[in-house]
Amino acid sequence: MSSIEDFTAGRWIVGQKERYIREIQASVERQCAVPRSVGEEAVPVPDTRSAVHAVRTAYGARAQEYTELLGSMESMSLSDVAAINGWARHVDGAILDAGCGPGHLAKHLRDRGADVVGVDMVQEFVEPARARFAGVPFSVGRLEALPVDTDALTGLLAWYSVIHSPPSIVAEILTEFARCLRPGGSLLLGFFTGPRIEPFGHAVATAYIWPVDAMARLLRSSGFDVVDVQTREDPGVRPHAAITAEFRG
Ligand SMILES: C[S@@+](CC[C@H](N)C(=O)[O-])C[C@H]1O[C@@H](n2cnc3c(N)ncnc32)[C@H](O)[C@@H]1O
Repeated sequence: MSSIEDFTAGRWIVGQKERYIREIQASVERQCAVPRSVGEEAVPVPDTRSAVHAVRTAYGARAQEYTELLGSMESMSLSDVAAINGWARHVDGAILDAGCGPGHLAKHLRDRGADVVGVDMVQEFVEPARARFAGVPFSVGRLEALPVDTDALTGLLAWYSVIHSPPSIVAEILTEFARCLRPGGSLLLGFFTGPRIEPFGHAVATAYIWPVDAMARLLRSSGFDVVDVQTREDPGVRPHAAITAEFRG
């Protein structure tokens, strides 16, 4: 497989990006073709540890800057806040903010009465979040192996946290989300959308655009029913999508 590190370093040669896109699309097709249930392994994928490590290192180095720019509710689009509030209103039980970054969303949900905890793999986010938002539990953990008991959650918010994951491991992450949710539990997944799965040079670390249909198919094969899709296109920014999906159990 072509190396995403080559893309990040600007070393891709002509044709290599198209080949990489074909490879990741084929990998997602394979994952969609295999219905999985809790406890089952996703389709074996190439070693992606270095890509995840690169994301952790990049956020670690810029966590303070990211928090200053984007770590508040005021920095968010009003329609995103409305989508999150609307989703949380229907979640009656424990919520995980998975890939919480600065932790402001967890704090916001807690202020609205939710029982919420935040998890992120970047220590440089988690420690300041604990200091800023005393009373909200935050811990270090990976989306691929969340520090959460099976069936423990009623809601799981993954707000732009899977965008950096190599597409070949997104099924593994969704299966992990399913493990943590009780049957009927709700997932809200925010991501960048576009006509095909492809990497782009996000300001912090390589991220991926996903067509809504491809993400919805992967959710279904990971045990979810898609119950709502919202998309947003604002001038000058990448189109966004938010999918609400219910874990079938
Ligand atoms: C674009 S930021 C979004 C942060 C926050 N959800 C928000 O809306 O501001 C992506 C976050 O996901 C976290 N993340 C990415 N991949 C992760 C993984 N495999 N495990 C845990 N956290 C991850 C990053 O550390 C970062 O905090």
